[in-house]
Amino acid sequence: MKSMIVLLGPPGAGKGTQGEKLETELGYVRLSTGDMLREAVRNGTELGKIAKGYMDSGALVPNDLIINLMKEKIESLGKVPGIIFDGFPRTVEQAEALDKELDIDLALNFDVEDEVLVSRLTQRRSCPDCNAVYHLSNKPPAKEGICDKCGAALYQRDDDKEETVRNRLKTYREKTFPLVSYYEKTGKLVTIPGTGEIDAIFAQVKKAIQ
Ligand code: AP5
Repeated sequence: MKSMIVLLGPPGAGKGTQGEKLETELGYVRLSTGDMLREAVRNGTELGKIAKGYMDSGALVPNDLIINLMKEKIESLGKVPGIIFDGFPRTVEQAEALDKELDIDLALNFDVEDEVLVSRLTQRRSCPDCNAVYHLSNKPPAKEGICDKCGAALYQRDDDKEETVRNRLKTYREKTFPLVSYYEKTGKLVTIPGTGEIDAIFAQVKKAIQ
């Protein structure tokens, strides 16, 4: 069973959705740099103050800040059954830094076309407390506007407005897409179509992890 897993793919490809299912089913720790940064923004930390402007415009937060954040997080974990990296690495420099920390077993790449991504993200609703993710029509919560898992009021992320989503897609193509060939060269890459039923995609994810 593979235990050190990177989730790759453009914004809205389903990294969080599939990562959350893996976390529940396998007991692995999911490290989402996006969730960590949003928490830093909410708490008004120094990192949050710097990161906010980059996030709101759809750009990436500078590599040195992200690499330090992740290194500290990995060191604080101690021994765990596995780690799911969601949204990290996002540049070749980040991938090289991660390779110095541990051996990645698998890079799972979710392939979804742009117009589907825009529609998914503009209709996404997120939980500020437990980070669960919903969609107004594809995955609505049982009670409108309320998180099924923890009961908090759902919100729309600032960067899920259409103009910012398109900037995020541009940033993805320029900065993150090169990671597909980075991991292909190491023989660790598995690409899965990210469209279709969430559970059907999850069945393919589990197969890739065996
Ligand atoms: P981050 O939070 O990581 O955002 P992202 O990569 O843009 O990814 P998303 O969370 O938007 O999408 P996802 O793939 O997780 O999709 P999801 O499962 O939610 O990063 C935000 C920002 O932080 C960045 O822009 C950057 O500024 C900064 N940042 C973060 N990490 C960084 C790093 N390493 N370096 C530098 N900067 C960094 O699904 C989306 C929607 O689709 C949901 O509504 C869901 O319900 C729905 N959905 C999912 N699967 C399906 C399906 N199969 N069918 C129908 N609907 C589906």
